Amino acid sequence: MRQRPFAISSVSVSELTLGTWGLSGDGYGPVSEQEQNRVILRARALGITGFETADIYAAGAMETRIGALLGADTEALIITKVGTDIGSQPPRKRFEPSWLRECIERSGARLKRNVLDMVLLHNPSVQTLRKGDATGLMRELHAGGRLRSWGVSAGSAEVAEAALDEKTPALQLAFNCLWASDFRRLQERMRETKTCVMARSVLAHGLLCGFWPGEKVFSETDHRSRRWTPDELKRRLHQLDAIRPLVRNEVNSLRSAALRWVLNHEDIATAVIGPRTVSQLDQLVRDIGSGPPYLPEDSLSGLEMRMQDFGAR
Ligand SMILES: NC(=O)c1ccc[n+]([C@@H]2O[C@H](COP(=O)([O-])OP(=O)(O)OC[C@H]3O[C@@H](n4cnc5c(N)ncnc54)[C@H](OP(=O)(O)O)[C@@H]3O)[C@@H](O)[C@H]2O)c1
Repeated sequence: MRQRPFAISSVSVSELTLGTWGLSGDGYGPVSEQEQNRVILRARALGITGFETADIYAAGAMETRIGALLGADTEALIITKVGTDIGSQPPRKRFEPSWLRECIERSGARLKRNVLDMVLLHNPSVQTLRKGDATGLMRELHAGGRLRSWGVSAGSAEVAEAALDEKTPALQLAFNCLWASDFRRLQERMRETKTCVMARSVLAHGLLCGFWPGEKVFSETDHRSRRWTPDELKRRLHQLDAIRPLVRNEVNSLRSAALRWVLNHEDIATAVIGPRTVSQLDQLVRDIGSGPPYLPEDSLSGLEMRMQDFGAR
């Protein structure tokens, strides 16, 4: 597994990071505990060193599982996220320093780590970031040695911009062939500030695998049942035709093309993948091939134009 520079000096991270939202059973539907363990251990065996989670995934159980399997593994970089109170009804975002401090204590205990590799503020608002006390706490914990690094998981370009104003060392953003505008808008600034950029949702929640029929129906426990209207989904599936020309020679699937397209951006530190089974994980690791280059230059020419023609830019 190839490595790229990370937000901690002299430390690199695997170009694929295992994200654990889907694996936790939240978001897409249940996954057995055995499969969760198998995926985490298989990822590590395949050379993955980045493991991404959140204190709320499976109400803390995913952090506990990662702590049990990887807490003592000094090569594993564990990235967790805080900023949601699931004890309140309905759950609410909370970023007061006293609450964040408690969350980070609990995460450290579950992950079996006194020093945490990276903690991200989990989808804060622009207003929260502008206030400065949440980022101030992160800086304080970093200076005190409790956090090796910190950052912000941003739900929009505006939030990412506010995080950069607060000099965040790391940003997590949705970034894929169909959703590139936030990254593009900030790319130059992130490069100048040497921000560690972690791309998530690199398969657009599975859409970029290109397997779904036009009438795809998701179960009620799957977040995708609420994400797209039937018309929106049809429009998105049609846009996949703009990407299909990338599938040739060793790039043997749309999924591979989509993953390689993300990794082809050298400003991305790591692509946070979301497999829910060992076989999905194995496929994704095979999909990235032996690059760079991940995609031949000539197959990229014309992609942006095609994306525009298909209304995806
Ligand atoms: N706000 C945040 O901080 C935030 C938000 C979103 C995600 N994340 C992190 O990023 C990770 C990835 O995000 P995501 O779930 O949006 O990722 P994604 O990679 O775009 O989509 C994941 C889905 O892709 C499908 N998939 C994965 N590997 C596959 C394979 N080999 N063949 C076919 N389908 C495959 C699976 O769908 P099926 O379930 O249909 O098999 C899986 O649920 C999450 O686990 C989480 O850790 C963070």
